[in-house]
Amino acid sequence: MPAPTTPPTLTDGVVTLRAHRADDVPRMVEQCRDPASIAWTTVPVPYSETDAEDYGLKVLPEGWAKGTEWAFAVEVEGRYAGTISLRDEGPGRAEIAYGSHPDVRGTGAVLRALRLLVDWGFAELGLQTIVWQAFTGNWASRKVAWRLGFTVEGTLRCYLPQRGARRDAWIGTLLRDDPREPRSTWLEVPVLEGDGFRLRAVRADDAPRIHEGTAEPETERWLGHKPAPYTLDHATTFVERRRELEATGQSVTWAVADPDDDRILGTVLWFNHTPGVECEVGWWLHPDARGRGLATRAVRTVVDHVFATMDLKRVTALVAAGNTASRAVAERLGFGLYGIERYGAWVGAGRADLAHYDVTASEWAAAGARSSENATTNTTSPASDSPTPTTSGDR
Ligand SMILES: CC(C)(COP(=O)(O)OP(=O)(O)OC[C@H]1O[C@@H](n2cnc3c(N)ncnc32)[C@H](O)[C@@H]1OP(=O)(O)O)[C@@H](O)C(=O)NCCC(=O)NCCS
Repeated sequence: MPAPTTPPTLTDGVVTLRAHRADDVPRMVEQCRDPASIAWTTVPVPYSETDAEDYGLKVLPEGWAKGTEWAFAVEVEGRYAGTISLRDEGPGRAEIAYGSHPDVRGTGAVLRALRLLVDWGFAELGLQTIVWQAFTGNWASRKVAWRLGFTVEGTLRCYLPQRGARRDAWIGTLLRDDPREPRSTWLEVPVLEGDGFRLRAVRADDAPRIHEGTAEPETERWLGHKPAPYTLDHATTFVERRRELEATGQSVTWAVADPDDDRILGTVLWFNHTPGVECEVGWWLHPDARGRGLATRAVRTVVDHVFATMDLKRVTALVAAGNTASRAVAERLGFGLYGIERYGAWVGAGRADLAHYDVTASEWAAAGARSSENATTNTTSPASDSPTPTTSGDR
């Protein structure tokens, strides 16, 4: 079927897709000067009114006329709100591109607009495959693609150009018959308040303290699978990897944060989840947060949370057999030792024995009931501990 050579007007009653107009230019300029647009797209820097006029009123109409790109202005409440398009990639395939004005971000407007675009592209352009590409780390773009039903296929190194350099890129696909809804679970990291700490998502600005607290002898001794020497780049990669594990439904990591200044004091995570059966928990504390029972309390909060929100028969914890402080955390919480795996732990010096602990849902519930009974009569402070890392908690 011949592709249209001028943009039709499409609407779902909330957002409208239409051709760009001269009165869109001021808001196009605002959008393209905004830091997220500069960081994640190839807009010229600096960006002028002439750039917007050329792009919206010449380049994009030419794309329609030549059949190389089908772009629409997104309109919300009568105002320009962004630009979205499909770019020709040969028979049956197009690449999707999108960017929104900062004042509509977080409103779901772009998602609505993209649903219209995707349906139109499959129906009117006869597409089989729509490809999504984004610089790695553009989580807002990835989440939108995920909501549209894209499958992220992988990372292409040094792939997409941006202002004279090449950056790593994610690539994803949406096929004509794919359901237009998420294909996988994207895990959220709920904020959990505790006694003297707050559990929240790990962030990029936590990396310096993660680096500082990991490149120290006790952590290096017990976490042999960490790169050594452990650099700030490794800590930054660790944080970014948390997002990937959450976005692919594999694991949730919390920062144990100081409730007063939000400083990261450690991490607790769940991983190795077998739905309906089990997951594993792991923990690590910065050296300046050890020795005051914090790991025990933070891990208790996480285990309470996973038993309450996931269908689990048991939770496991694996600790190097020689790591007395970390084993004390598991034991204080009521985890039972069910075996020592010889040479199962990868520690700084090589392989060492690994202590396997678990606690079942019913044991945990019974221990919780006992401790709330005790709480009414027992006012002693939490036991002091000197928690160090679990062995497998940071894979
Ligand atoms: C990409 C873009 C169009 C998305 O539009 P948006 O209105 O921000 O999208 P939404 O608000 O519907 O969704 C963004 C989601 O990403 C999430 N997100 C943003 N940054 C994140 C991060 N660092 N880690 C995890 N999630 C993140 C947001 O919380 C939001 O999720 P939520 O709705 O569950 O809270 C817009 O952000 C934009 O124009 N960015 C600059 C241009 C750009 O990146 N274009 C895409 C190039 S490939």
